Amino acid sequence: MLTRVDKRAVAGRFAAAAGGYDASARVQARIAAALADRLTALPLPDGARVLEIGCGTGLLTAAALARLPHVGTWLASDIAPAMTARCRQRLAQDPRLTVAVMDGEAPAVAGPFDLICSSLALQWFPDAGGALARWRRLLAPGGVLLVATLGVDTFAQWRAALAAAGAPWAGPAYPDGASLSRWLGAGGRVERQDFVEHHADAHHFLRSLRGIGADYAPARLAPVTLRRAMRLLDATRPVDITYDVRWLLAS
Ligand SMILES: C[S@@+](CC[C@H](N)C(=O)[O-])C[C@H]1O[C@@H](n2cnc3c(N)ncnc32)[C@H](O)[C@@H]1O
Repeated sequence: MLTRVDKRAVAGRFAAAAGGYDASARVQARIAAALADRLTALPLPDGARVLEIGCGTGLLTAAALARLPHVGTWLASDIAPAMTARCRQRLAQDPRLTVAVMDGEAPAVAGPFDLICSSLALQWFPDAGGALARWRRLLAPGGVLLVATLGVDTFAQWRAALAAAGAPWAGPAYPDGASLSRWLGAGGRVERQDFVEHHADAHHFLRSLRGIGADYAPARLAPVTLRRAMRLLDATRPVDITYDVRWLLAS
């Protein structure tokens, strides 16, 4: 979990990375496409009203709007204005889309929505459980919540290298399935699907995290420790990095 002050820092990192995000967001694009595929299996009504939280540059927005011609309105939102600007630019031609700068942890919208969706934003929220409860309250009767977030085994290979180098994990604390189920509440379902990203070496992996603005950590590592951990990760070059994706579904 992150504190309120950390949240501002997170938003700043993502805003600064918006221009180069797409070039580094390889696994994020795969996860967005997988989420969009899952959306097509949902029984959404014609003219469905959709809220997307943490849209970034619009990877999920674009993939979903292309697959869901019967959607009526799609409100894409993000806390970082530079991200919303890229999303608006990407999908300027789609009349169903509105883009807003908004803190998705406590959405300033009335609803109701037939669908609320989000890809890889929830793990950055200081109060993910509170956010999920608020999102569910914004659903119309029969509405659906579908969220991709990261679970406890995310970056397992990098965590192991850090531990072997004597460094504690310094990134966000990713929850286990039990915590996610509890946060999601009654009638919710949590499923796991691993996505593996291949990198030439540790440097390439860390550069890709920086490239999307996801390199925020509450505590900084000493350079000597960081180099030791990178050498350990490089022992198995090329490097595979696991994203432990959790699909959260509720209605
Ligand atoms: C890893 S990116 C994912 C973006 C996009 N959904 C994708 O899959 O490419 C995380 C996004 O969440 C946004 N974000 C982080 N905290 C947020 C918050 N409290 N409210 C709304 N968006 C937030 C960031 O600005 C960033 O655009």
